[in-house]
Amino acid sequence: MNAVIYVSKGGNTRKLADAVAKGAGVKAQSVAGTAAGTAAAAADGTANLAQVDILFIGASIYAGKINKDLRQFLQALKEKQAAKAVVFGTSAGGKNALAEIKPVLESRGIPVSPEVFHCKGSFLCVNSGRPNAEDLAQAEEFARRVCNGGL
Ligand SMILES: Cc1cc2nc3c(=O)[nH]c(=O)nc-3n(C[C@H](O)[C@H](O)[C@H](O)COP(=O)(O)O)c2cc1C
Repeated sequence: MNAVIYVSKGGNTRKLADAVAKGAGVKAQSVAGTAAGTAAAAADGTANLAQVDILFIGASIYAGKINKDLRQFLQALKEKQAAKAVVFGTSAGGKNALAEIKPVLESRGIPVSPEVFHCKGSFLCVNSGRPNAEDLAQAEEFARRVCNGGL
């Protein structure tokens, strides 16, 4: 069983999450929508997240960092709760969330793939329309390849 979890304040990473989930054959779950519907509840129990094979994690960058609810959620994962994690996400520039997520998960015994799917996300008047249809198609294909062992 694979899982796709994400945080998206403005909807850009949610679009990618839905595309990744399609490629992975599962339903994307917002961290804020897990457990009792609050990030704190999710961090306490990760109730909706069972033991998974591949955990896809969708993260955007806000003021240089990932969202704190997502960080809290990752910190609450159980030891080896996922066999492997794969990061995807959006930001206005080129920065992705791998460097911030990797040490948190590795401290839980969860290896993190060096392969990341990242694309530009619209922000104010930059990157209008991103992620676009092509980004979403690529995200879906990325997830499919990961799940088929091609990445
Ligand atoms: C408050 C705020 C701070 C942001 N800071 C950064 C940043 O430091 N670097 C960057 O590349 N993008 C930054 N962005 C742009 C977002 O990463 C980008 O719009 C992303 O696609 C948002 O994803 P979301 O719609 O899923 O929340 C920021 C956006 C907001 C709203």
